[in-house]
Amino acid sequence: MICNKMDNSDIDMSDRSVDWLFGVESLKTEKVLKKKALEKEYAGEKYFYDDYYTPYAVMRNIMEKIELQPEDVLYDLGSGYGRILFYALFVTKVGRCKGIELIPGRVKAALKAKDVLGLKDVDFVQGNVCEENFEDGTVFFMYNPFGRQTTKVVVNKLRNIAKRKKIKVISWGREITDFLNKQKDWLSAEQSIKSNDSGEVDIIVFESIADNVFGDYSSADKITEADGLLEQSI
Ligand SMILES: C[S@@+](CC[C@H](N)C(=O)[O-])C[C@H]1O[C@@H](n2cnc3c(N)ncnc32)[C@H](O)[C@@H]1O
Repeated sequence: MICNKMDNSDIDMSDRSVDWLFGVESLKTEKVLKKKALEKEYAGEKYFYDDYYTPYAVMRNIMEKIELQPEDVLYDLGSGYGRILFYALFVTKVGRCKGIELIPGRVKAALKAKDVLGLKDVDFVQGNVCEENFEDGTVFFMYNPFGRQTTKVVVNKLRNIAKRKKIKVISWGREITDFLNKQKDWLSAEQSIKSNDSGEVDIIVFESIADNVFGDYSSADKITEADGLLEQSI
């Protein structure tokens, strides 16, 4: 009924109507963000958003494949307005969701939606993924969010996390996927998902390899940023 009210021409919910249900105010927020100021403050980062968000239909395909469990902690690295985390909380058994996002206005909007929805199991942190801690994650989603330098740092952090436990990394976007595909000593492409009907597979679910160069997870060293292992594997 709500859907019909939101969109008279189509019985399917559009992304905008699901946004409305979740209280996600992305259009309004993007309009007031001062692009010039962002450009100055976040030079070197891919801070832009327009047209670069994950549609709910794609989220559904992803969630069907990854089968999140109550013990999972799902991270969206570069979480925008938190859409995928809200969606995961509503449609899966996931235990906890966390988003890290560079742009304060987007985090503020995500936190507002969280409050309106009354959700407790989702957190949003404003910051640069390079400086934030996401060691408690088990599943990590990235939709083409970073420039090359940031990608290197993030993949190195993920690699360190994978020394201690099995993780899944879901990537959407050629750059990030090409990068992860090169991490063959610790990461294996396990599943593929199509984001549209064109036939092209563009979302990959990677899993860390238990029996990898690090050997037994339980005896792995404490994570250190200075590992420098990534450089060897690129
Ligand atoms: C393409 S959007 C994807 C948003 C959301 N994950 C989705 O799939 O709908 C990428 C987001 O990553 C954020 N981002 C880019 N670089 C970042 C960084 N270094 N640290 C945290 N967030 C970053 C951008 O500001 C943007 O909101």
